[in-house]
Amino acid sequence: MGGERKFRAVRGVKDILPEQVAAWRHVERTFREVFALYGYGEIRVPIFEETALFARSIGETSDIVEKEMYTFPDKSGNSLTLRPEGTASVVRAFMENSLDKLQPPVKLFYMGPMFRYERPQKGRFRQFHQIGCEFFGVAGPEADAELLQMVHYAFDRLGVPGLKLKINSLGDGECRPKYREALIDYFRPLAEKLCENCRRRLEANPLRVLDCKAASCRELRREAPRTGDFLCGDCGNHFQAVKGYLEEWGVPCTVDSEMVRGLDYYTRTTFELTSDRLGSQDAVAAGGRYDELVESFGGPPTPGLGFALGMERLVLLLPEGAGGGERVPPVFVAALGEEARRIGLRYVTELRRKGVPAALDYDGRSLKSQMRRADRMGARHVLILGDKELEAGRLLLRDMSTKEQEEVSIGSAVERAANLNRKAAE
Ligand code: HAM
Repeated sequence: MGGERKFRAVRGVKDILPEQVAAWRHVERTFREVFALYGYGEIRVPIFEETALFARSIGETSDIVEKEMYTFPDKSGNSLTLRPEGTASVVRAFMENSLDKLQPPVKLFYMGPMFRYERPQKGRFRQFHQIGCEFFGVAGPEADAELLQMVHYAFDRLGVPGLKLKINSLGDGECRPKYREALIDYFRPLAEKLCENCRRRLEANPLRVLDCKAASCRELRREAPRTGDFLCGDCGNHFQAVKGYLEEWGVPCTVDSEMVRGLDYYTRTTFELTSDRLGSQDAVAAGGRYDELVESFGGPPTPGLGFALGMERLVLLLPEGAGGGERVPPVFVAALGEEARRIGLRYVTELRRKGVPAALDYDGRSLKSQMRRADRMGARHVLILGDKELEAGRLLLRDMSTKEQEEVSIGSAVERAANLNRKAAE
């Protein structure tokens, strides 16, 4: 059968098979429940947008925009980009649909694929999936703390152990320029030793050096000025208050004053949730505040904040078998002989119409192989029906776990099997 395989999935992109989807759905369901508790409504934004939307918000000199976007001209020559993240699109949608005119807060969540041309490795893909949310209209630290509490709560419900929450504050339009200046002053004399990328964008975006993976840059930034030392009074108070709430609410976190994040839109609070079990791609979720983003898109000054988690990374951390209990086992109809198969086919339809998953053997194999098949499918009950049973007007209903069999009449077989199966699934 077949020759050489002709097609493979594109590098860095993978299929998610049914046995993995159970865990994915479990995560999605948990987050849907948690988002509902915190007042978020779902938004579905397009997979691609005008390229400029991402370039302006994520930052022209960010790694994502410089190197990682799937950008292509459409047939009319417009430059489009597959979304590398969700925030830019949600902010656009927020304004375009006049959600900024609603009474704040406006809370939106989303789930779906994102695309970045990164070097694939464990936990890093070119198409990956995020669950994220954006929270508009509240400037106070209660919003930051609530967001972090929600993330903490959702991960707790999923039972992911050993996560670390790191937070930092990047300041705002008032204090960040001073911090940038200090960074440029610090790195300028060291520029020769920086990696090529950082050297080139030092003047435009000195914060990137703090996030650079190159060993040379890592070493050089050890003594670099820290964000915390430059926060203005308002930003300092805001950060203090966020930490205060988190402590009061029992959300453990540590301050990491070296964390700057790879997206340029952040102001004030930023955070990452990491796990030691993920290797070098250790961030499971990340986010922060972006109080200047809506305005930079031409909207009214609107504070905002949010986060996104990486599904592929999160499912690696889930306890064994998470979400596995979701599947209801089918009733298997083992039919022997032509007439029996005809009735068997009717039975599976009736069972399915009653909301009971049902299966049968399409190939008319021996009873033994049909029973093996039922077993492999995890069927709890099997209806056995051959010419002999047809003649007698009674068939056998076998309980696969107790191995007990009972006789049932042709007329009541479906009802009885459906009831037993429902009970077993409870
Ligand atoms: P981000 O840190 O770029 O933030 O991505 C969030 C999460 O997405 C990461 O922590 C990681 O788990 C996952 N992720 C990112 N890139 C990949 C990849 N190539 N393969 C697998 N997983 C990946 C954002 O995207 C912001 N939009 C978050 C946010 C929302 N900030 C405010 N609101």
